[in-house]
Amino acid sequence: MTVDRTFVVVEGTVKMAKDCIRLRRPTEDDVEKFLAWSHDEELGDLTGWEYPDEEEKIRDWLFNKTHNRDRRFLVIEYNAHPIGDIELCNIAWRSGHAELKVCIAEKQYWNKGLGTRAINMVLEEAFEHLGLEEVYLRVYGKNQRAVRAYGKVGFTIKGFLRRKDPDWQEIWLMSLTKARFREMKRQASA
Ligand SMILES: CC(C)(COP(=O)(O)OP(=O)(O)OC[C@H]1O[C@@H](n2cnc3c(N)ncnc32)[C@H](O)[C@@H]1OP(=O)(O)O)[C@@H](O)C(=O)NCCC(=O)NCCS
Repeated sequence: MTVDRTFVVVEGTVKMAKDCIRLRRPTEDDVEKFLAWSHDEELGDLTGWEYPDEEEKIRDWLFNKTHNRDRRFLVIEYNAHPIGDIELCNIAWRSGHAELKVCIAEKQYWNKGLGTRAINMVLEEAFEHLGLEEVYLRVYGKNQRAVRAYGKVGFTIKGFLRRKDPDWQEIWLMSLTKARFREMKRQASA
C-alpha cells in the first residue's frame, strides 16, 4: 500500500483494529456527513465556524481545503466511520507556524480521548514530517472541554482576544512548540 504521508496518518496496528483512528483526505462520500454536520448549531457555537449547508457548496469548500499548499485538511475516522475533521491551516512554511482546527462532529464520541489522539497524530505530522516549529489555535474560553483536550497534549495559554460577534466572547490563544511536543512525548513514554 502506498501511503502519502503528507495527508494520511494512521494510528494503531491490526491488533487495534477495533479502536482505530485514521486521518484521511475527504472524499465524495463525505459530502453527506458534512451536510448533516452543517445543521448542528451547537458545533458552530463551540467552534466559531460553520460547514457550508448545500452539497455543491460543500464540494467547492472541500476542493479549496484540499487544493491549497498552506492547509492540511483531514477527515477523522474512528473504526472506519467519519466522526469529524482536523486541519492545519495558515501554514507559514518559512517561519514554521500553523494554526490547528479540530471538530469531532459526532457527539457520541466526545470525552473518549479521541480528540486528544487525533490532535496528537496531526502534531506528530506537523512537527516530525512537515518540519513545523510551533502550532497555535484559538478557542472560546467557554469551551472548556476543548481547552482541557488541548492542555493534555501540551498547549499552553498565550493570551486572550475578544470576538465582537457573537457577544464579545473571550477567545483563548494557545500554542505548542516542537520542543515541548517532544518533551510531552518523552514523558508519556517514560
Ligand atoms: C474539542 C474536542 C476536539 C475534544 O475532543 P474529545 O475527544 O471530546 O476530548 P478528550 O476526550 O480527548 O478530552 C476531553 C477532556 O475534557 C474534559 N471535559 C469534558 N467536559 C469538560 C468541561 N465542561 N470542563 C472541563 N473539562 C471537561 C474531559 O473529562 C476530558 O478530560 P480528561 O481526559 O482529563 O477526563 C471535541 O470534543 C470536539 O470536537 N468538540 C466539538 C467541536 C469543538 O469544540 N472543537 C474545538 C474548537 S476550538
